[in-house]
Amino acid sequence: MIRQTRLSVDQLVYPLFVRPGSGVRQPINSMPGQYQLSVDMLVAECGKIMDLGIPAVLLFGIPEHKDSAGSEAYSETGIIQQAVRAIKKVCSDLLVITDVCLCEYTDHGHCGVLVDRGGRKDVDNDATLPLLVKEALSHVEAGADMVAPSDMMDGRVGAIRAGLDESGFPHVPIMAYAAKYASSYYGPFREAAESTPQFGDRKSYQMDVANADEALREVAADVEEGADIIMVKPAMNYLDIIRRVKERFRMPTAAYHVSGEFAAIKAAAANGWIDEKGAAIETTLAIARAGADIIITYFAKDLACWIKEGL
Ligand code: PBG
Ligand code: ZN
Repeated sequence: MIRQTRLSVDQLVYPLFVRPGSGVRQPINSMPGQYQLSVDMLVAECGKIMDLGIPAVLLFGIPEHKDSAGSEAYSETGIIQQAVRAIKKVCSDLLVITDVCLCEYTDHGHCGVLVDRGGRKDVDNDATLPLLVKEALSHVEAGADMVAPSDMMDGRVGAIRAGLDESGFPHVPIMAYAAKYASSYYGPFREAAESTPQFGDRKSYQMDVANADEALREVAADVEEGADIIMVKPAMNYLDIIRRVKERFRMPTAAYHVSGEFAAIKAAAANGWIDEKGAAIETTLAIARAGADIIITYFAKDLACWIKEGL
């Protein structure tokens, strides 16, 4: 009766990786129990997710071809566009959120296009914006219910909002990866999404782990530009940020329990060093207690079962 924080399946989002082919269910080594799925297998998986009562999925694409401008990201026949059409045909009630970024689609693995600055390659913030708008729009045209820009370019939420509004999609919400840190915990994801930067790192566009006030400024900018849901990422090392963001903005707030956080629990549990179920529930409760309304987690399916059983 006096328990303050309760987990509900309604607050969970399950991330999924889609790749070309058919009948493909390729295990992701560093993320036990997670797979790269071809579109047909993805649709089947979405049926199971709906049966578990999980309301939403977040889609990441592994394209057929990568190039310097990430053109499959905004192609009408791109992998995400195909996936969204196929899912919505069968699972029309499932909320389909798409990750909007270029790193999965660029041959250099960065989240934006590159510019040469006196012999040194760097991500070009402003040149990237129109491409992100095109990507978001093509996801929505394919049927995506919500877009989630994860690139951390300045000004992208405003640009995407304007782009969607002008094209007849003023009702489609944006979940902004608002405070996204340059974290070491994205490693397994980069294996899963085949999106490791081929040189350098993401520190020119993702946030310094040491900064908290900057997170509030990043969130304020995204809210100002029209974000409907704001996200803090990763989750466990940033519970203070989740709390401050929730208290300052009183906005629907999401937290992403990322691949490395998931893998760490899985690896320790596989060695018999911690109890997987206990650790996963404790972690998720902590994220909710910090103030997250929405939790994006690779444990979503397990949590849905455990919640049903009464934790
Ligand atoms: C791409 C992106 C990343 C994640 C979500 N979108 C990785 C990165 O920035 O390199 C991480 C998700 C996870 O680790 O589970 N912009
Ligand atoms: Zn990216």
